[in-house]
Amino acid sequence: MLVLGIETSCDETGVAVVENGKALRSNVIADQQLLHARYGGVVPELASRAHVDLLHPAVEQACAEAGVALGDLDAIAVTTGPGLAGSLLVGVASAKAYALALDRPLIGVNHLVAHVYANVIEHGSLPAPAVVFVVSGGHTSLLVMDAVGGFRVLGQTIDDAAGEAYDKVARVLGLGYPGGPAIDRLAREGDPAAVRFPRSLIDDGTYDFSLSGLKTAVLRHVRGRPGELDLAGVAASFQEAVVDVQVSKVLRAAAEEGLDTVLLAGGVAANSRLRARLEREAGDRRVRVLAPSPGLCTDNGAMVACCGTFALERGERTPLDAGADPNLRIVPGVGRRAQRRPKRRHR
Ligand code: KG4
Ligand code: ZN
Repeated sequence: MLVLGIETSCDETGVAVVENGKALRSNVIADQQLLHARYGGVVPELASRAHVDLLHPAVEQACAEAGVALGDLDAIAVTTGPGLAGSLLVGVASAKAYALALDRPLIGVNHLVAHVYANVIEHGSLPAPAVVFVVSGGHTSLLVMDAVGGFRVLGQTIDDAAGEAYDKVARVLGLGYPGGPAIDRLAREGDPAAVRFPRSLIDDGTYDFSLSGLKTAVLRHVRGRPGELDLAGVAASFQEAVVDVQVSKVLRAAAEEGLDTVLLAGGVAANSRLRARLEREAGDRRVRVLAPSPGLCTDNGAMVACCGTFALERGERTPLDAGADPNLRIVPGVGRRAQRRPKRRHR
């Protein structure tokens, strides 16, 4: 079974061909980082226009690299939400056109669930039950996956998403956009104990997260030291504060839920410090941590194709009159705060 996956929820135009839900035949990602970098964040109107230009060439390239013709595809999977409305619409409208013209089923996919399915491409299947930690530019959600594809929300961010905090702090430090990879790189040269930043909600007994106080603390620290800033030390100390809370809550969730598997997903799951510390500290407790390779953590079409294949096998089909849903939730109707509209990075 060959499924085309289309991802246009934010600023990556991702198109992939995936075979049988796991084998990556091609994975084309046309990112728009240069386009948005001068504004310090994603500009929605520019993003959707760029998707219009980039999507069809990306489909052609994905098919060529996979060595397949459009007619060989068995289904078209597309992200229907959450994300930027205009950007989602470009992907959804195009996917419908391909599905109609090729007479193949259309499968609408939840972007956050697709992030979790990136683990299938890496590890061959999704282990359930498991604790699932989705950390991206728009979301921080700590979940339990009781059965494959079925989620329960434990906690979420009450203000900034993890990636959003990385991007904002990177901006304050003058590291450009996107900020996560830049902080990750710079932090390797810095002392994580250089500055003691707050670890909000670390011992509050909930599974919620809050990053706006940390962001403000970094801002105050930077403004108080013009010209004598230890940039790498601040980056490493900020990252350590984020990771401390993340590791602590994820491991407490595993212990309290009696689960021995943690799945990481989303762009921030590419963070080398989070991966290293979680793997080490989980290993000490005989909990295994699975994550997609860093390249499959950030937005891509492969995770959409993979997630779509599983939905197709369950018999799901998306009607051609279905729309995009910028506010789509990971669990319908649950967790108003965590599952609110993703706040995008443009400020
Ligand atoms: O999942 P994703 O590609 O897009 C959304 O669904 O939002 O996540 C993008 C976010 C950005 O905020 C980016 O700065 C962050 O993931 N990110 C990282 C790293 N790589 C990407 N954050 C921390 N460390 C990284 N290595
Ligand atoms: Zn994403």
